Amino acid sequence: MYSQERFEWWKEKSLDKSHQDAYNKITQRIPPNGKIFLDVGCGTGEVLKRACKNTNYSLYVGTDSSESMINTSRENLKNSGIEAKVAINLKRQSQNKRKVLLFHDDILNSEIPYNFADAITFVFPEVYASVNATDETSHNEIHLGHAFLSIFKRVRVGGTFLFVPYDVASSPEREKRVLDNLKEIWDEDGLNLETCEFFENPEVWADAADSTKLGEGETPGYRIIKATRIK
Ligand SMILES: C[S@@+](CC[C@H](N)C(=O)[O-])C[C@H]1O[C@@H](n2cnc3c(N)ncnc32)[C@H](O)[C@@H]1O
Repeated sequence: MYSQERFEWWKEKSLDKSHQDAYNKITQRIPPNGKIFLDVGCGTGEVLKRACKNTNYSLYVGTDSSESMINTSRENLKNSGIEAKVAINLKRQSQNKRKVLLFHDDILNSEIPYNFADAITFVFPEVYASVNATDETSHNEIHLGHAFLSIFKRVRVGGTFLFVPYDVASSPEREKRVLDNLKEIWDEDGLNLETCEFFENPEVWADAADSTKLGEGETPGYRIIKATRIK
């Protein structure tokens, strides 16, 4: 679970200029139209807010396992003139009227229906298990892998998945390796990798305990990876 300390850390970090620029870039890559847009681990709501203003979906949903994040998202959206409702469940949401929902959900044990969204974003992910997690080291690659499998099922076939890791160390060789690896792994899961862009940015760099370390000649930053669910 996200601790109060981690929550405060992210609340501040998400407002700095580098992160705000990154959110703008990410938003530009969200498909402009669709029925349902979903931001998994929406944090303070920065992506959701921009998606609402710049795209045209019938329903916008942000989920997070932290109640503090959900509440902050709601305030953040409200300050931008967007009224978001905290939903009890996502099963019977009418798609007739454009609206924005926030939903308390652990992606490792998710209640989001399968084939739910036309586009899903998963930005600056740091996945904690809600159960048996007592400290900051309780997020790791295994959780991220499980989160992927959970998220993939929630994208409808033909829909888009945007993944933005922020603990990236990049070099031309590493970019090629990452691309080849992702292509192979995601292909087995039914996702077709479309684009993988690296943005150099030392500010947008996770200071988590298990962040990728910078090797010689490597630059820090984030990637915006776009994929389509094909089966
Ligand atoms: C580094 S923040 C990024 C937030 C947001 N995506 C952004 O870009 O501003 C990671 C977020 O993931 C959420 N989170 C962590 N573990 C989660 C889980 N198991 N299920 C859902 N959300 C989770 C945290 O509460 C936090 O809001």
